[in-house]
Amino acid sequence: SGPAPAASASASATSTAVTGIAVLVTNDPALGEGPLGLVRNAAVVLDGERVAWAGPSRRAPAADTRVDAAGRAAVPGFVDSHSHLVFDGDRTEEFNARMSGRPYAAGGIRTTVAATRAATDERLHANVARYVAEALRQGTTVIETKSGYGLATDQEARALRIAAAHTDEVTFLGAHIVPPEYADDPAGYVGLVTGPMLDACAPHARWIDVFCERGAFDGDQARAVLTAGAARGLVPRVHANQLSYGPGVRLAVELGAASADHCTHLTDEDVDALAQGETVATLLPGAEFSTRAAWPDARRLLDAGVTVALSTDCNPGSSFTSSMPFCIALAVRDMGMTPDEALWAATAGGAAALRRTDTGRITPGARGDLVLLDAPSPVHLAYRPGVPLVSAVWRRGERVH
Ligand code: NIG
Ligand code: FE
Repeated sequence: SGPAPAASASASATSTAVTGIAVLVTNDPALGEGPLGLVRNAAVVLDGERVAWAGPSRRAPAADTRVDAAGRAAVPGFVDSHSHLVFDGDRTEEFNARMSGRPYAAGGIRTTVAATRAATDERLHANVARYVAEALRQGTTVIETKSGYGLATDQEARALRIAAAHTDEVTFLGAHIVPPEYADDPAGYVGLVTGPMLDACAPHARWIDVFCERGAFDGDQARAVLTAGAARGLVPRVHANQLSYGPGVRLAVELGAASADHCTHLTDEDVDALAQGETVATLLPGAEFSTRAAWPDARRLLDAGVTVALSTDCNPGSSFTSSMPFCIALAVRDMGMTPDEALWAATAGGAAALRRTDTGRITPGARGDLVLLDAPSPVHLAYRPGVPLVSAVWRRGERVH
């Protein structure tokens, strides 16, 4: 699908001009209108892995190949800063039961832990590859993913090695829940996660995460996990305040976490902490959708000046979607975000949550992560929910869809 190159590429071609873009979202206010840096009648030149140039079509420099966007809108590749892709099996029955009224609880994670432990490496590789490809077709050019369904030293290290074969953004989530073997000794499990498991896992990850929640890990346990990870060079991010009020968000800010994720149950103190700190609030509307829970209040966070990211949380329990456009549509319809705010949160916001400046924007020197939409305006991502609007994707300057 998508537009065909207007001129054939020579074997040595390295640069591509995408011209005839009706509206280009650069996320660089220096390049265009408003916070999204909108440029109308735009072109983008990709050279090697990078954006070489972005601006009005009439001023576009020559390139080896030209692609005519034919009046489509273009946006930066989506940055999905929160997913759990290393797993086997699914939880169809649990979802079915939930849609008949049973509430979501963290304990369902055990079902996926059992299936994941029993899976071969090859099977887990194939699963991750499939979900990463699924996300890519929907415009996601950077995706973070976590361990957390192994919950034993060798299993967690295996999950991280597998994740690292498919993405650079890998998170150690040994503290997802206490596994059945440690049901009577949660302190012993925290000792394992902060000791031998961390030793085995730290070399394979960039980030450390903990599920700080009733039924998972309390504030003191979460602090122990995050500080041990930080001492080994892993940067904290936290599953915080998803199912109930709690200490997760304030702990994340206090420890300088890159992101506090979920942020569904927030007190005024939590919002103030986020507004004063450096921690991004990552909202995961797929989880509230799939668990029939109350939405996080994005409007309240934005009005307080908090940096907000949107991500899928793709996992078999609480949010089995890999679609960033779907999350944008939910955030606009149900969380008080404008279409522009949601698009920024799904691109530049995700990059901020991963502390990256090389993606999430279409600006000279950034990675060539570009998405063409079968729509004249990026607003259509929210306006036409459920419609596959992603018509072409470049990742690191290469056309991948
Ligand atoms: O982010 N909240 C904790 N972890 C996942 C759910 C994992 C699962 O249910 O398998 C989440 O929603
Ligand atoms: Fe999650």
